[in-house]
Amino acid sequence: PIIMTQSKFAHKESLSYPYEERGLQFGDGIYEVVRIYEGKYYLFEEHVDRLFRSAEAIKLVLPFNKEELSNLLLELLKRNNMETNGKLYLQATRGSAPRDHVFPVDVLPNIYAYIQDQPRKTNTLEKGVNAITHRDMRWENCYIKSLNLLPNVMAKQVASENNCYEAILHRDGIVTECSSSNVYLVKDGKVYTHPTTKNILHGCVRMAIERFTEELGIPLIEEAFSLEDIQTADELFLSSSTSEITPIVKVDDLQIKDGNPGKVTRQLQSAYENDAN
Ligand code: PDD
Repeated sequence: PIIMTQSKFAHKESLSYPYEERGLQFGDGIYEVVRIYEGKYYLFEEHVDRLFRSAEAIKLVLPFNKEELSNLLLELLKRNNMETNGKLYLQATRGSAPRDHVFPVDVLPNIYAYIQDQPRKTNTLEKGVNAITHRDMRWENCYIKSLNLLPNVMAKQVASENNCYEAILHRDGIVTECSSSNVYLVKDGKVYTHPTTKNILHGCVRMAIERFTEELGIPLIEEAFSLEDIQTADELFLSSSTSEITPIVKVDDLQIKDGNPGKVTRQLQSAYENDAN
């Protein structure tokens, strides 16, 4: 496989990282995951825009503009002869320097990007998944796609140990998002989801869902829902670049309605399929 590192292309094996690297030592960096369908990026501009927003939020100056980065990433697809379904992972850190919390001076960011196969998760898309609820233990700037994922990793691990796919995170009973996806509740034909404050990541698939609901005439209400609201929900679903729009059919010990994916979720899944193809 060919990767991109800094603004060049190289073989994967040639990538090595110094031990004094700010991404490794401080989690001082940002990342993106972009879906690829049949060799083409999906929601590409949204991801590139978000990467630059994250960079700005952590005062990281990237060594290229949006157009230059987009061209590099398109070139990466070509060099890998990518034609199948996959994903791109890109990260940018504040660079390599002797360990010091203060930003290093005159040090360039370390950047790399690679693509990988990622088949569609047809089974979970069809049947839905189970989730746990878990306290949101993250910081106040979850809108930044930061490399600091320890609370997300810890919550996802608890989900996994309980044979669940995701952890639905809440702050004092108010649901924010999941450990690596956004989450939505359907009640009486309306879709509820947390507003895009600093407490959640503004998902690129969420942006697409904003568009789909408008096209379908389904009200999307950007109001947070609570753990209590889940008890009486008609449907629940989550969204992310790798999970697309996945129904949630059980939360902790509670089955959602009859335990099958609901109608609104199915409508949005079809809209997604049409948009991505
Ligand atoms: N996760 N919320 C969180 C905390 C996320 O980590 C993600 C994405 C999302 C959904 O964002 P998007 O629709 O842009 O993929 C929401 C990626 C896929 C990951 O960390 O692997």
